[in-house]
Amino acid sequence: FVMRGDFSTFRRSLLTWFKQNQRQLPWRSKPSLYRTVISEFMLQQTQVTTVLPYFENWIKRFPGFHALADADEAEVLKHWEGLGYYARARNLLKLAQSIRDQGIPGSFEQWLERPGIGPYTAAAISSIAQGEVQPVIDGNVIRVLSRIHNDDRPVSSTAEARRRLLPLAMELVDQDQPGTFNEALMELGATVCRKIRPACLICPVRTQCGASHAGTEAGIPVILRKGSQKRSVNRLWLVRDRHLLLHVYPDNATRLAGIAELPELPALPASGRLLLRKKRGISSEIIDESVFSLPGDDPMLEQCRCQRDNWMIPIQSLPGLSISAPHRRWIRILLESDSVC
Ligand code: ADE
Repeated sequence: FVMRGDFSTFRRSLLTWFKQNQRQLPWRSKPSLYRTVISEFMLQQTQVTTVLPYFENWIKRFPGFHALADADEAEVLKHWEGLGYYARARNLLKLAQSIRDQGIPGSFEQWLERPGIGPYTAAAISSIAQGEVQPVIDGNVIRVLSRIHNDDRPVSSTAEARRRLLPLAMELVDQDQPGTFNEALMELGATVCRKIRPACLICPVRTQCGASHAGTEAGIPVILRKGSQKRSVNRLWLVRDRHLLLHVYPDNATRLAGIAELPELPALPASGRLLLRKKRGISSEIIDESVFSLPGDDPMLEQCRCQRDNWMIPIQSLPGLSISAPHRRWIRILLESDSVC
C-alpha cells in the first residue's frame, strides 16, 4: 500500500488544518504533563464532550500528581463516577503514587512500565508532553490511516489493526512536532474523518486519500466483531426504613471494585414485580437487566439480604457513595416513584 502524494505534504496539510481548526480544550490551552496524563486516561474509551466536566472537576480536587497520590481510593473513584471503566481511576491513583515514589518517567519505554499504561497512553504522553517521536494509534487514527490507504482488509481487533499500521505510522509521524501531529491526526478522526458521515469535502488531506478517491470511505475500516455475548441479570429492589439494599463490589473484584450496584438475585423470581428493564452494552457484552421487588415472604429476599457484600444503606447517604451511572439513574427513578418505597 502506498499513499497518494508524499508524507511531507500530508504532514504540512494536517498541521496547518489543526492550527486553524482544533477545538479549544482545557488540556490544550493550559498544557502540563499532569493535565496530559489525566486527559489521556479519561479519553480512553470516552468522548471529549463527556470528559470535559469530569476533567475540570478532577483538576480542582486533585491539582497535581502529589495531591492525587495522597488521596483515598474511595474519593478518587467518586470523582470518576459516571465515566465507567473504573480500573482507569484506580490505575491513575497508582500511577500518581509511583511518580511520587520513583519520579517522572522520561521516555516511552519508561512510561510503559508504570501502572495502567499501555502502548497507546505511553505514546500519547511521551509525544505530547515530552516531545518524543512516537506514533499514537487509537481508534481514530486507525480509521484515518486505513482510509488514506483504502485498506479494506478485515481486522478482528484494534490490537491487530495497530500492529498492521505501526510501520506506516512510524514513518508518517512528524519528527519536529510529534505530539502536535498525533493530536492533529486524532482530531481529524474525531471531527472530520468520522465513522459515520465523514466530512470529506472539508478534509485537509482529501487529495491524498485513497478511500475518498475510490468512494469507499463509508465501509473502511472493516472491523470484524466477535458476536456479542448476551447475558441476563435480575436485580432486587429492597427499601426498608429509608434504607436501600446495595451490593458493594469488594476490593478483589476486577472491574467494579469499590462501586455499588443494585444486588443480583440468584434466579429469576417466580412472583416478583418487574419495576424496570433495560438493555445495555459493556465491552463486548450485551446485558439485559431487570429490577424486581419481591413479596415479603419470598425466601430469595432473605437470601439476598444475607449475601456477602450486600448492605442496607441509608438513603440519605447515597450521594456520598460511588454508584455506577445507570444504577444511580435507576435508583433515582425508583425512589421518586413512591409506589415502590
Ligand atoms: N483522543 C485522545 N487523546 C486525544 C487528544 N489528545 N486529542 C484529540 N483526541 C484525543
